[in-house]
Amino acid sequence: MSSYLAQRPKGGRFANVLRAGAAASAISGAGAMYLLHRINAIRHHPPAALRRLRGDASNPLFDLYPALADRIPWRPLASLPTPVEELPGPDGDVRLFVKRDDLSAPSYGGNKVRKLEHFLADAELSGSRTLITLGGIGSNHALATATHGQALGLDVDLVLYDQPMTPAVARNLGGFLAAGARLHVAHSIPRAFVTCGALFRRHAGEGKAPYFIMVGGTSRLGCIGHVSAAIELARQVADGLLPEPDRLFVPLGTCGTAAGLIAGLKIAGLRTRVVAVRVADAFPANRTTLRYLAQDVGDFLHRCDPAVPRIWIHPHDFDVVTHHYGEGYGVPTAAGERAIRWAEPRLSLDTTYSGKALAACLEQIATISGETTVLFWNTYNSAPIATPTDWAGLPAELGFALESHTLHARRHDA
Ligand SMILES: Cc1ncc(COP(=O)(O)O)c(C=O)c1O
Repeated sequence: MSSYLAQRPKGGRFANVLRAGAAASAISGAGAMYLLHRINAIRHHPPAALRRLRGDASNPLFDLYPALADRIPWRPLASLPTPVEELPGPDGDVRLFVKRDDLSAPSYGGNKVRKLEHFLADAELSGSRTLITLGGIGSNHALATATHGQALGLDVDLVLYDQPMTPAVARNLGGFLAAGARLHVAHSIPRAFVTCGALFRRHAGEGKAPYFIMVGGTSRLGCIGHVSAAIELARQVADGLLPEPDRLFVPLGTCGTAAGLIAGLKIAGLRTRVVAVRVADAFPANRTTLRYLAQDVGDFLHRCDPAVPRIWIHPHDFDVVTHHYGEGYGVPTAAGERAIRWAEPRLSLDTTYSGKALAACLEQIATISGETTVLFWNTYNSAPIATPTDWAGLPAELGFALESHTLHARRHDA
């Protein structure tokens, strides 16, 4: 037998296919872990530069653990604390409150502002003048990035993938242009990542030091914003503004908001159970990612400052409700629309995120017996969205989709 044959792995062609498959999955798994590590790594900046940027401002997390302020980039953007209000309505022993994160900023509020307080600080300290991010064509994260980025004088590139056209999507498209963002259409999520990579290389080649923000603003740094939000809530409970909530309902998209809240509630010592209502595809909105992100941000904060309690996130610590997702991302559901009408005129909700989360909340409330405090975390901006004076920056395919939507709506109203 030749030495070549003697060294051939045993098992024939089938075994070779299996080995090749295992090798490919190990390589792609390692690649995914490496990317995650890169995306989640939080850069080191000199403490003096961090101090200069935040000025005299602080946040509930830094108030409790001041050492974190010298490690975590943060600049104030939001008007905090956001109010908590009691909503009249549910019968029986249930009290329903709402956390008005829709009011988190007068220019553009909602949940993304708390994430951007960290990203925009990191971008500035890294010397970046151009932000690149991605989202659906009606992405609230993209609009928040464009609005708050522009206010700081940054250029913003938004890479957009398809989602169903609704009135809210049409409004956000106008908002992107009013904020001066450059729009790039990529249709699918994988293509959007490829386009982000190409834009990043192009800007870097031109010496513009671009700054990439992950889809939905979800990464370790982004999650920290909602750890602080949970501590803000704990203060409001301590101040007697509401009883300690038994359940907290929040939409689950890229998981960053819910993960930060889960970790923050544990750090703050509240027993509130997060009920995350899935409103996006199972990838990325799933229990495993949610638990990973919550544990990861908790571990990071404890490593930075051992005064932060060590927390363990168990699979049974939170709930994920999936049946309000409906037919897809951005596709309205009847229950979501009913919930939106129920909350009007007090709250102005959307069909993609907050309407579905409130629908799940009202559904559960109807089954609860005994004294219970429920908190609905309103993540949807309620500030008016600017309309552009000029639609010239709208890519042709988006203009076409917008036009047929407007025509359809007019015919429907006629
Ligand atoms: C209004 C609103 N609510 C909730 C979410 C979900 O937040 P996350 O992506 O952090 O899970 C988003 C995300 O885009 C959003 O725009």
